[in-house]
Amino acid sequence: MGSTPFRATIAIPADEFESDMSQLLFTPEQHREAAEWLAAFTHRYQETLASLPVYPPIDREALRGIIAAPLPDNGQSLEALFEELERVIVPNSTHTAHPRFLPYVQPSPNDLSPYADHAAALLNQNCNLWHLSPAANAVEQAVLRWFADLFGLPASASGILTSGGSMANFVGLTAARDHALGDRARTEGLQGGSAPLVLYTSEETHSSVDKAVSMLGLGTRHLRRIPTDEHFRIRLDLLDQSIADDRAAGLRPFCVVANAGTVTTGAIDPIVDIATLCRAQGLWLHVDGAYGALAALSPRFREAMSAIGQADSVSLDPHKFLFCAYEAGCVLVRDRRNLRHAFSASPSYLTMSDDPDLVDFANQGPQLSRAFKALKVWWSLKHFGARAFTGVIERMHDLATYMGEQIQARSGFELLAPVTFNCVCFRLSGLDDAGNRRTLQALLDSGTGFLGPSSVKGRKGLRACFMNLRTTEADVDLILDRLAELAVSAR
Ligand SMILES: Cc1ncc(COP(=O)(O)O)c(C=O)c1O
Repeated sequence: MGSTPFRATIAIPADEFESDMSQLLFTPEQHREAAEWLAAFTHRYQETLASLPVYPPIDREALRGIIAAPLPDNGQSLEALFEELERVIVPNSTHTAHPRFLPYVQPSPNDLSPYADHAAALLNQNCNLWHLSPAANAVEQAVLRWFADLFGLPASASGILTSGGSMANFVGLTAARDHALGDRARTEGLQGGSAPLVLYTSEETHSSVDKAVSMLGLGTRHLRRIPTDEHFRIRLDLLDQSIADDRAAGLRPFCVVANAGTVTTGAIDPIVDIATLCRAQGLWLHVDGAYGALAALSPRFREAMSAIGQADSVSLDPHKFLFCAYEAGCVLVRDRRNLRHAFSASPSYLTMSDDPDLVDFANQGPQLSRAFKALKVWWSLKHFGARAFTGVIERMHDLATYMGEQIQARSGFELLAPVTFNCVCFRLSGLDDAGNRRTLQALLDSGTGFLGPSSVKGRKGLRACFMNLRTTEADVDLILDRLAELAVSAR
């Protein structure tokens, strides 16, 4: 292989820099100044948020300027940084806390979590080893226990906070795979010569499961996407048949991924029946509850979510229904030994705990360095209380129900799926797929509202997902009125 000579493209003049570490530290006066800039910025952003276009016209030239700017040799003042934040970054950001920001499963943050992130960054705990983060470790264990108790998981359960649902699914499915591979999972991996492992899920399942399957080396052709019924729930008869067919073909079924809130319509699979099937067949049950599991905080959804307690692993996202600022995901496993089987390592350069009561989170997930994400989750629940989330989750469901009723009452709109959760899939009935797409884009360009696309059993349309703490019925009316106007020009 030919080698390319290394050429540095950045030159730092060696004679000019001062060897003084205090340059990276603030004086008390600078700390005060930084806090004042941040407080002023926070206040201004919150005040102007609702009047900003939900999806602003993006200044591509300004963004190209950011990308192309050279590495600065000398520092800039805090004033210059905050000025650039307000002049370039804010106007070219999507305003996720805007009341009419309703695409995807993407909430506005609760107002406490940015402060929690600041405090967590200040403490800068490395949440990998117990002895590097004893209090943060206790906080993470506390929120994991609260979540495990919410679903009635046994005392053997544990878990880990992750960046989000995708990583939670990856961690849960790694535990499932290594459990299936047994003692030689770590040394032989998938090359140990056993029959190919197969896993099962519904056609409505989130793409993060496909990603996990390929990252785990299982191959997506070993992921069976089972058709769903008229309520978008996995067809048990077809699931059963598919498992039987694979066994007959000499393959090795090992896991079913059930949904507690499918990404498009919010459907909840028949988790109790799937758990029974998994027990009978010796399969691992992973529940993807990234979207919906925390709706168990509301009595409206608690019953449906209680079956999650029968899972071997479950993903849930505090950055969704706990409205924590990005990022905060979580995976729980029924038996903590399965996480340790998949992830533990004791290199000579780390001091792991030899006390079995102490958790080293590095042994329960893929990361070594880990931020203190648990603080914003813990504080959110402690400051607002679980009841506040019950009210908010029910309000989100009420808003979706209201939008569904409006869609049914107005001409020119058609529901693509019944509203059962906090999302609404619909289409503009006088327009074809391309017309629906154009109208969605026009809504975005108008700055009035931000919805996402949807495809329900092959029928294409739009989707609103209510996860925004400032949305009201008036916002729903405004979006529908504007869509009706825009649909006329999209014909
Ligand atoms: C059902 C489901 N699973 C997984 C994910 C991925 O979660 P994250 O975006 O937190 O990685 C999502 C995201 O919306 C989801 O709805």
